Amino acid sequence: MTMVLVLQGPNLNLVGSREPEIYGHESLDEIHAGIAARAAELGLQVSFFQSNHEGALIDRLHQRDFDAAIVNAAGLTHTSVSLRDALLAVARPFVEVHLSDPSTRETFRHVNFLHDIALESIVGQGARGYNLALESIATRFGGADA
Ligand code: DQA
Repeated sequence: MTMVLVLQGPNLNLVGSREPEIYGHESLDEIHAGIAARAAELGLQVSFFQSNHEGALIDRLHQRDFDAAIVNAAGLTHTSVSLRDALLAVARPFVEVHLSDPSTRETFRHVNFLHDIALESIVGQGARGYNLALESIATRFGGADA
């Protein structure tokens, strides 16, 4: 069965209470419960990892115990050569997700170190974007029947 790692970057642990007008009212646990339910329907295995620390996110990727990833690198999207390098090093396909659409926000969010190496980027769809990413991965790599 295809194993999907959902990697969540800095400050996403505060989603639900953090700037809800931008990121929505659902907590990260609620978002993850929705992802887990959709993954079960699609026949995908899923695991979750959130950290506020760049190195911890990189160490998690280095475990290479997943077939594909969904990555919301949060602010590190706009700054981190090291996270980009880690994604390239482990050579696992990934879909980039952002709750908001960074390209319509402050100009520093227009810089993106991950976009060109992602399979696709799903932005501005709120929590629904994670399920769209799962569906894309299921279509590309198969779920239970693959
Ligand atoms: C975010 C967008 C980033 O610019 C921001 O730093 C975040 C969240 C999003 O999901 O919309 O922390 O990745």
